[in-house]
Amino acid sequence: MGQGLHTVIAVAVDTKVPQAAVASKAALAPSRKRTSSVLLKIIMAVTGITLILFLYLHMIGNLKIFFGAEAFDHYAHWLRSVATPLLPRTWFLWIQRGGLTVAVIAHIASAAILARRARAARPVKYVHRPKVQGSYAARTMRWGGVIVLLFVIFHVLDLTTGTLNPVGDKQHPYANVVADFALDRWYVTLFYTLAIVAVGFHLRHGIFSAARTLGQQTARGERIARASALVLSLVLVAGYLAVPLAVMTGLVD
Ligand code: HEM
Repeated sequence: MGQGLHTVIAVAVDTKVPQAAVASKAALAPSRKRTSSVLLKIIMAVTGITLILFLYLHMIGNLKIFFGAEAFDHYAHWLRSVATPLLPRTWFLWIQRGGLTVAVIAHIASAAILARRARAARPVKYVHRPKVQGSYAARTMRWGGVIVLLFVIFHVLDLTTGTLNPVGDKQHPYANVVADFALDRWYVTLFYTLAIVAVGFHLRHGIFSAARTLGQQTARGERIARASALVLSLVLVAGYLAVPLAVMTGLVD
């Protein structure tokens, strides 16, 4: 009898424990997935902010073109000696390049995983797809991002390595930029313009989303985030477009 009771209790415990474990696993699974989605959004926000910071510094540097060839070329050479003598020459530039590459890869990978999860959560498409889904900036995130990525690859081959530039003189970046936006190379200027506008749209929605991810919740905060995103994007687009515009109009030659 004692032995029998023991066996019954043992079986009851044995069968209950795995069931409880399965039940608690099932209860945990969705929340674990949600947590990692939040983490992915935080990665997107932080890497996005890092890239925006670079874009602003790069824009300010580019505007040195209005101070003449000597100032601009001097600035480009200075970039190679940042943090010397603490670090050997060009090391900072390479660390920055590594950081930017990691940020871009992490940003794209998180976006791809989040998009796949969103699709998996809604395997059947909406029958009546609303014509307007969010702002234009929100709807163009994926293609805008692809255009910007293709542009950066072209841009590095154009102005960093000089491979695709008509002058391609690493010692004279001013001459490279001026050659780039010559009137007969209007298609290059057009591609730059398209990419910069894409950056603007991408940034507008990106800054707004990042603010939400990082804790902005109130209606007033939302208005401020929307306005800041618009202003920051417009300033960036204007600052970048000023360079090709100045070359095309002969203000910079
Ligand atoms: C009219 C607009 C722009 C001009 C005139 C410009 C100019 C330049 C120049 C001269 C360089 C070479 C720097 C050097 O090696 O000394 C450069 C590099 C670079 N630019 Fe731009 N840029 C523009 C827009 C952009 C935009 C919109 C992006 C990003 C979306 C961008 C991203 C980069 C990156 C990632 C590099 C490589 C930096 C490196 O060599 O480590 N640029 N740009």
